[in-house]
Amino acid sequence: MTLTVLGIETSCDETAAAVVRSNGDVLSDVVRSQVELHAPFGGVVPEVAARDHALALPGIVRRALEQAGLALADVDGVAVTHRPGLAGALLVGLLTAKGLAWGANKPLVGVDHLVGHLLAIFLRRPGESLVAPPTFPFAALLVSGGHTAIYRVDDARLDRMQELGATRDDAAGEAFDKVAKLLGLGYPGGPVVDRLAATGVATRAAVALPRPMAGRSGFEMSFSGIKSAVARHVEAHGVPEGQALADLCAAFQSAVVDALVGKTLAAARAEGLSRVVLGGGVAANRGLRARMTEVAAGRGVEVFVPPLASCTDNAAMIAYAGALSLGRGEAAGLDLTPATKTALARVTRKGGGKRASP
Ligand code: KG4
Ligand code: ZN
Repeated sequence: MTLTVLGIETSCDETAAAVVRSNGDVLSDVVRSQVELHAPFGGVVPEVAARDHALALPGIVRRALEQAGLALADVDGVAVTHRPGLAGALLVGLLTAKGLAWGANKPLVGVDHLVGHLLAIFLRRPGESLVAPPTFPFAALLVSGGHTAIYRVDDARLDRMQELGATRDDAAGEAFDKVAKLLGLGYPGGPVVDRLAATGVATRAAVALPRPMAGRSGFEMSFSGIKSAVARHVEAHGVPEGQALADLCAAFQSAVVDALVGKTLAAARAEGLSRVVLGGGVAANRGLRARMTEVAAGRGVEVFVPPLASCTDNAAMIAYAGALSLGRGEAAGLDLTPATKTALARVTRKGGGKRASP
C-alpha cells in the first residue's frame, strides 16, 4: 500500500514541509531558507533560528498541504526530523508535528535527518526525467555545512546504515564557509568559492595546501588544517584579488574535493561497493561532481547525484523516510524527544582518537 506522509524539517536554518508518497513521489516540497537572517553573523545563530521557525512553520505546512491538494485529514501520518540538529530549532518542528498528529489523529514518526539525506536519491520530483535510482547496497557521501561522512547503506532502515568514516573536525561546507568569510566573500561561502574556483587554476595559486589524512588508511577526513593554511596565507600576504583570488579558491576547493573523492572511493572499494550516492548541500559543488564522476568512471563505479533540491535541506526527504518507517509499523509516541546527535552509530570521533567502546 502506498502511504502519503506530511514531513516537517526544522533542524537547522531551513523551515520546510512537504507531502510525499512512500513510492518517492513528491506531491509538494516547500522550503524557506533563513540564510539572509543569519548572514550578518557569518553562521547560524541557534536562538534566531528557533524563533524564525516558530514564526514561519504554520504557514509553510499550510502551503505544503495546499500545493499537494490535500487536507491534513487525507495524509496517513506526520513525519518530523527529531535529530540531529539545534535543540531549540528541532523542538519547534517536533511540537508542531505532535500537535498536528494528535489533532488529526494521525500517527507520528520521528526521522533522523541523516537518514533523510541518505534516502533523498529515491525522491521523484514532478517534471524530472526519470533516472533509475541506485539499488542497495551503495556507498554514500553526505557532505553539508553540518556533516561530512561516508556511509555504507544496505537498506532504507537506520540499522542498515553504517558510518565508514567522517570528518574529525570541520564539516566540508563549514570549511567552505569559513574560507569564504576570511576572503571577504560573504555567507554561505560554498557557492561563491565554487564560482570563483571555476575560473581559477589550483596549481597557479601561490600557496601549497596540505592534504590531511591522505596518506592514512581508513576513511576519516579533516578539513580544518586546509582552512588554517588558507588563513595563514591571507595573514601573511593579504586577501588576493582578481585572478589570484580565483586561483586560491581553486586550490582550496581542489584540496577539499581530493579528500572527499579519494576517501569515498577508497571506502567503496574496501566495501566492494560499485555505486556511490552524493547528498548534502556541498554535493552542489561543480568541482566535486566533476571529479567524483571522472575518477569513479575510471574505477567502474557508478555515481548518483540527486537534483539540488534533494541535496540541500528539505522536508521531502523526511516525509519519504517517514513514509517508509510508517510502512514498517514504526510510529512514535507523543513522548518523542529531540536529540542533538544522530542515532547512526559513529566510528569517527571529533578531534580524532578511538572511541572508548564501539
Ligand atoms: O545541506 P545544506 O543546505 O545545509 C546543511 O549544512 O545542513 O548545506 C549547506 C552548506 C553550506 O556550508 C554551503 O556553503 C555549502 O553547503 N554549499 C556549497 C555549495 N553550495 C552550498 N559548498 C560548495 N560548493 C557549492 N556549490
Ligand atoms: Zn542537512
